[in-house]
Parts: sequence; structure tokens; C-alpha cells
Amino acid sequence: MTLLSVENLSIRFGTPDGDVHAVNDVSFDIAAGETVALVGESGSGKSQIALSILGLLAPNARTSGRIMYGGRDLLSLKRRELNKVRAKEIAMIFQDPMSSLNPYMTIERQLNESLELHEGLRGAAARKRVLEVLDAVQIPDARNRLRAYPHEFSGGMRQRIVIAMALLCNPKLILADEPTTALDVTVQAQIMRLLDDIRRDMGTAILLITHDLGVVAGSCENTLVLYSGKVMEHAPTRALFAEPQHPYTRGLLRAVPNIHDEAGALHAIPGQPPNTMRALTGCPFAPRCVDAIAACHQIVPPLEGDALRQRACIRPVEELT
Ligand SMILES: Nc1ncnc2c1ncn2[C@@H]1O[C@H](COP(=O)(O)OP(=O)(O)O)[C@@H](O)[C@H]1O
Ligand SMILES: [Mg+2]
Repeated sequence: MTLLSVENLSIRFGTPDGDVHAVNDVSFDIAAGETVALVGESGSGKSQIALSILGLLAPNARTSGRIMYGGRDLLSLKRRELNKVRAKEIAMIFQDPMSSLNPYMTIERQLNESLELHEGLRGAAARKRVLEVLDAVQIPDARNRLRAYPHEFSGGMRQRIVIAMALLCNPKLILADEPTTALDVTVQAQIMRLLDDIRRDMGTAILLITHDLGVVAGSCENTLVLYSGKVMEHAPTRALFAEPQHPYTRGLLRAVPNIHDEAGALHAIPGQPPNTMRALTGCPFAPRCVDAIAACHQIVPPLEGDALRQRACIRPVEELT
């Protein structure tokens, strides 16, 4: 069952120097209980897609397309209606746990405030729910740590608390924007495992946003690869890793750390990041693409394929290097 459907989403930002074309005609679905990964390098539009789902774009943003959820277009909801969707239906986890936590408030108080605001729960009922979610995110000895402040926890534990906060109202979908980027590798793996447990135990769908293709391998059913705000490839994660069909995906996979060639070299994709101050006139990756031909610079490649996987590249797969 489709939970959320992003349809032809474009996002532009008006600036004194002209429009930033941050997101270009992006479409994808998230099924109930599914994990979808949104992968792309910094500036590719990942966060803006997540923010647009919750109506949190900056005031200079203009959107087109639709984001369907529960039969309604989230892009056209009034602020009051969106507030109801936020947290209760769709919750967001940000990269830096401290951006969601108040350093001057105990963990208990922040979780309680959120519960009271969204669920009208107080007192014993609130306390019970708070302990439930802290247990769910595996905070050891949660009962005795309720009165602690955020700085008394490690980075990994703080991110668990932020995840607990997202879980408070039992959302159907969690938008996790680079939830592990600020953490070291071991803790990253623990947080990914936790998100996976949550999905399995509570049936919560997850949109996992990351610049690191290495993070999605074991944890997401489907992956979208973004470049310059455009979907380059959309495929089941396994198939994407086994047989990447877009030159950009191939480049990214070569750049995943610990995938070295025989000489032990680490690959990065050479070239400049795209210029988002212009509307697309060709494939945005063409200037960096080893497989580009003249037409790639002149035609915006449509995203084509079947229901299972799609790619936006005019070169036949068999002819790619
Ligand atoms: N309020 C804004 N005004 C102008 N440009 C913006 C604004 N917010 C984001 N952008 C631009 O939108 C593009 C996509 O940003 P973002 O979604 O944050 O990238 P990512 O999360 O993939 O790193 C970037 O080029 C960024 O500079
Ligand atoms: Mg971002």
C-alpha cells in the first residue's frame, strides 16, 4: 500500500542572483513500512525534498507538483492541517541531534512537552509513554536518566533520544536526514540497526537521506540516486549495487570507501559540482560523465524504465564503460 507519493516535485528558490533550481521533477512512492533511500552528494536537493514533505521550506521557495499523503496534497495544506500531520503522522530526524534538543531542558521535560502538545498526554500516562520510547531506542537505564540534560549523553545516545522523540506519537513515516553523519562508524552502524528494528517492530516507513551510498546497502529496499536535484536512477537497492545502470551511480559506487581497486586506490568522481542557478538544458551530470556524448548536453534525459527500476540516461546500458 502506498503511503506517500511524491509526484513531479520541483523546488526553486528565488534569490537576488536568480532562481536556484534545487529539485527538478522528482517522483517516487514510499509504501507503508518500507525504507527508501535518497542518496546524492551535498547540495543535490535531498534535504529540501524532506522539508517540502513537512511544509518546512524557506519562505523564498516555490514548489510545483504534488506530495500525496492520505488522499491529500501536503503541498497545498494549510499550516494548521500540516501541524497535525507533523509528528503524529510524519516525523523528522535531523543530522545534528542538538538541533532538535534543547540543551537547557531535561530529556523528560522535552519528551513530555512534545507529548502534551501532540497527544494531550500528561502525568503517569506521559511518563509511561516516554519510558516506552526510550526503551525502544535502547537507552540503558532510561528510568534513572530522565532528569539528565542532553550534554550528559554521548553523541550516539543523543541521536537515540531524538529518534525516541520522533517515535512518541507513533508516526507512520520517519524522514531521517543524514541521521548518522555526525557519528563515528561503529555508532553509525548501531543507529542504522536501530532504525531497522523500529521499522520491523512498529511498521514505520523510513525515508533515509544520506550522501553515503555505503550506509544504504543493508538497510533500504529501494534507492533513489539524485544529482543536481534530478533523479538519475531509482532501483531496488540490491539491483542498484549489483548492476548500476547510470554512469553517475557507477561513479558513486566506485567512490564508496573500502571499495578499492587492485592498486588500493580510492575513486572519487572528478569535476565540478553542478550549477543550480540555471534550469536544466541537458543531463546535469554530462560535464562529469565519462560516457557523455554531444546529445547528453542538449537533452534532459527522461526518467524511464519499468515499475521496478528506472534511469535517466540516453546512453544504452550496454554501451556504458
Ligand atoms: N532558502 C534557500 N535559498 C536559496 N537556495 C537554497 C535555499 N535552501 C536551499 N538552497 C539550495 O538548494 C540546493 C539543495 O539543497 P539541499 O536540499 O539542502 O541539499 P542536500 O541536502 O542534498 O545537501 C542547494 O544548492 C542549496 O544551496
Ligand atoms: Mg542536506
